[in-house]
Amino acid sequence: MALPLQADSRLRENPPPRALLTASSITKNFAGVRALKSASLQLLQGEVHALIGENGAGKSTLTKIITGAISADSGTLEIAGKIVPHNDPNIARSLGIAAIYQQPSLFPHLTVAENIALALEGESSSRRVNWKQRRAQATDLLSSVGSSLDPMRLAATLSMAEQQIVEIAKAIGANASILLMDEPTALLTGREVDNLFSLIYRLRHDGVGILYISHRLEEISAIADRITVMRDGETIACRNAADVTRSELIYLMVGRSVASIFPKRSVPIGDLAIEVRSLHNPSAGLHDISFSVRSGEIFGLAGLVGSGRTELARTLFGLTPSTSSIEVRGESCHIHSPAEAIARGIAYVPEDRRQHGIILEMGIDTNISLANLSSVSQYGLITPDKEATLATHHTDSLRIKTSSIYAAAGTLSGGNQQKVALARWLAIHPQIMILDEPTQGVDVGSKAEIHELIMQLAERGVAIILISSELPEILAMSDRIAVLHAGTITGILSRGEATQPRIMSLAFGHTYHDTMAEHPQ
Ligand SMILES: Nc1ncnc2c1ncn2[C@@H]1O[C@H](COP(=O)(O)OP(=O)(O)OP(=O)(O)O)[C@@H](O)[C@H]1O
Ligand SMILES: [Mg+2]
Repeated sequence: MALPLQADSRLRENPPPRALLTASSITKNFAGVRALKSASLQLLQGEVHALIGENGAGKSTLTKIITGAISADSGTLEIAGKIVPHNDPNIARSLGIAAIYQQPSLFPHLTVAENIALALEGESSSRRVNWKQRRAQATDLLSSVGSSLDPMRLAATLSMAEQQIVEIAKAIGANASILLMDEPTALLTGREVDNLFSLIYRLRHDGVGILYISHRLEEISAIADRITVMRDGETIACRNAADVTRSELIYLMVGRSVASIFPKRSVPIGDLAIEVRSLHNPSAGLHDISFSVRSGEIFGLAGLVGSGRTELARTLFGLTPSTSSIEVRGESCHIHSPAEAIARGIAYVPEDRRQHGIILEMGIDTNISLANLSSVSQYGLITPDKEATLATHHTDSLRIKTSSIYAAAGTLSGGNQQKVALARWLAIHPQIMILDEPTQGVDVGSKAEIHELIMQLAERGVAIILISSELPEILAMSDRIAVLHAGTITGILSRGEATQPRIMSLAFGHTYHDTMAEHPQ
């Protein structure tokens, strides 16, 4: 029998939401780095609780302590009303905690279905493996997150965004009551983000508590019920999302006001830097791609995940060579390897910084000088002084948060690793720079600095190819925007023509003419 409306609303108001998790005064040091000075946080049943703060503020460290991946030095953790004296990943899982980490962590040589099964059954599972059931389960979970990914694909063949979707499916499959999401949308675009949000709403409705970390503030205002702000290892404020403005949040995070997207300055457009005519690359799924970029121009590449943006970048940089020739500063050439691309003045900052961006075991100094050994060496030997000067210059100008330039890049927070990847390529003074998601995972303050840096490069005459999943970013920064769909360009929009609906229409495969007719300005 349906309840009368009044009783129904009273039911919803009572009882007050239960605390699923309470972290109090958590501290953590890593060999002299105070990652957490004092972090306290309460997560309620059925709430989306955002955790925000600058790069290196301690957000990921706090989530790893909650999942038992690392242990706290001091402080208490209470889950479902009980103090957990010693946490570890098994205990956390048995208490209903699931997490999506900032970096996907799939086993590359296993299939999607095997990765999901392993996460749900635990590595020590001794039951007979029922492959059909595993495949069906993986398909179900993937479709619940709006994905039609083939469960039999090897994880190694997935793009970063596809890997992230598998991570999300894994966490959902665990039926957790506490879900920690560390930048789940950093690699996703429009439709995937919408799918994830409807999923989050569904879980919240079912009483799951969601801790949500993101640098995309517009997302936070859309989805969060409450927001905790971290600064320098401390949780400094907790607010109702409805009661706080975006500029207040930025002020709380960075202690000053910042424009989240740097205003674009007009830069004189110079000579043709790169021209691509009817490029075909079947192994990368690309066909019939034509465009040109001039020096000083910022050329945006938009499109959905899997549309071919990264493949195009990899082709231009010689990582997935094609037989088509391209023209670089007036000279026709074939680029077969990154070395040839670099020799032609092309640099590429990839989205997957773990694979091609930086070497986690090596120091920040070595990572930065790696692409530019000639400037730090003399008579074929590396001069440590020069290497240190170069590294210090870039760590200062990009505000890379570290205790020392010699620290291993792997000890940096996610956003600071991204800055090291960028610094490495700036050091070779390229003429054509391909930036694949350059502000992914970067905080608002640093994002504005990276936008300013891109502007300065354009002013110096560098031709920039900018790939970004964030439409506001690509709209604000680009002179022209090419939109890809299924491996080809469906349209190129001038700055005046470019709007979000037009980009989305082209991204879904509509033609330029239909798009312009359907979305008049
Ligand atoms: N294993 C480690 N060894 C040394 N230092 C570490 C280690 N892990 C984290 N840190 C340091 O702890 C601090 C907090 O890092 P954390 O990854 O928690 O930041 P974050 O808030 O998640 O940042 P981001 O937004 O960039 O992801 C940083 O200064 C980082 O360099
Ligand atoms: Mg982090």
